[in-house]
Parts: sequence; C-alpha cells; structure tokens
Amino acid sequence: MRLKVRLSLYRRSGHYVFSGSAVQKCGGCDLYRNTTQAVFGELETGTKSTKPKVAIMMIGEQPGDHEDKEGRPFVGPAGKLLDKCLEEAEIDRLKVYVTNTVKHFKWEPRGKLRIHKKPNMKEIHACRPWFEAELETVRPKLIVCLGAVAAQSLLGSSFRITQDHGKLQKAGFPPIIATLHPSAILRTRTEEDRHSQMKTICSGFA
Ligand code: URA
Repeated sequence: MRLKVRLSLYRRSGHYVFSGSAVQKCGGCDLYRNTTQAVFGELETGTKSTKPKVAIMMIGEQPGDHEDKEGRPFVGPAGKLLDKCLEEAEIDRLKVYVTNTVKHFKWEPRGKLRIHKKPNMKEIHACRPWFEAELETVRPKLIVCLGAVAAQSLLGSSFRITQDHGKLQKAGFPPIIATLHPSAILRTRTEEDRHSQMKTICSGFA
C-alpha cells in the first residue's frame, strides 16, 4: 500500500521548505540509517514575503554529502552548476523549486570520504509518495528531470537520457522534460567541453 502524504510549505530564512517532522522519520527504506537527515525540496524566495508561483520543478537524483549535512538540496558543487545553468538560460531562480527523487544520501565509504552510490528501484519507489506530495503542493507548470535516475523514475526505465534529453516527454499536465544532470559538467576536461555540456543542459530547461 502506498503512503499518502500531505505537506505544506512554510518560509524559513529566505526559502520555502516543507513542514512536518514525518519526513525526518521516514523509514520507507534503509537509507535513513546512515544519513544525517532527509533532504526535501525547496524554493528560494529572495526578499518576497508572499508565496511565489512555481514555474518549474527540477528533480535531481539524491542529496550529496553537502546536502546531507546542510539539509538543503543542491547546495554543493552540482548545485552551484545548476545555478549557473539557470543563469545562462535566463530562468528566474526564484520560480524554480528544486528537489530530488530520493530524499536520503546513499553513499559508500572510501577512506574518510562518503562517495555517492546510485539508488536502486526499491529506494526510488519508497520515496515516491514524498515526490507526489511535493507535486501536489507545489503545482509546477513544468517538471525538469536532471539526469537519468530522475528521468527514469518518472518516465520509465526504458527512457534513455543520452538519446532523449531536451525533448518534451509528456504533453499532459505538468509536462515533463529531461536533461543531463549538472554534475556531468564536473566530468568535462576542457573549457570547450564544459561550455558545450552546459549548453546541452540548458536546452532541456524549456
Ligand atoms: N545532486 C543531486 O541530484 N541532488 C542534489 O541535491 C545534489 C546533487
């Protein structure tokens, strides 16, 4: 049976975040055991005090090391690149709600480091009610999947990000589009590759 979750957004120091301690008590899979906290989506509000209208919901894979410690999505290196891509694409960051497919950081130790590990289908499925609750609360006009995990979780496991990124996938509401994950930029070697990867990512934003 699927858990049905109800959430409400509230304002906390310049961001809209979800209320409710239930998310921090989630034991839908085992990932919570080795993490600092669950990381939910959020919306930057800037100086506005009224609840803004979300234009785009961007969904990544899972929080990373920085996000796990801070309790906020996309605050590490991938998040900085996402901000740059949004700037490049001239998308107002204050209208973009960012979240993740899986709300806990999955990692394995390498020396003193915690290295990202891809979530499996069971973990993705266990997190789905949280995403559905976010979607119902945020009501975006467009969903942008960042990377293969987010894209396959919403569009099916046969979706191929390398072939189908940047193409509108569902004409329903909200429509879904998938693009490469901003962390792909971290793997480029030259400035030229970096620029071209950023262009590819931005082309999937609208
Ligand atoms: N990568 C993601 O997919 N999400 C984050 O929050 C950070 C890095």
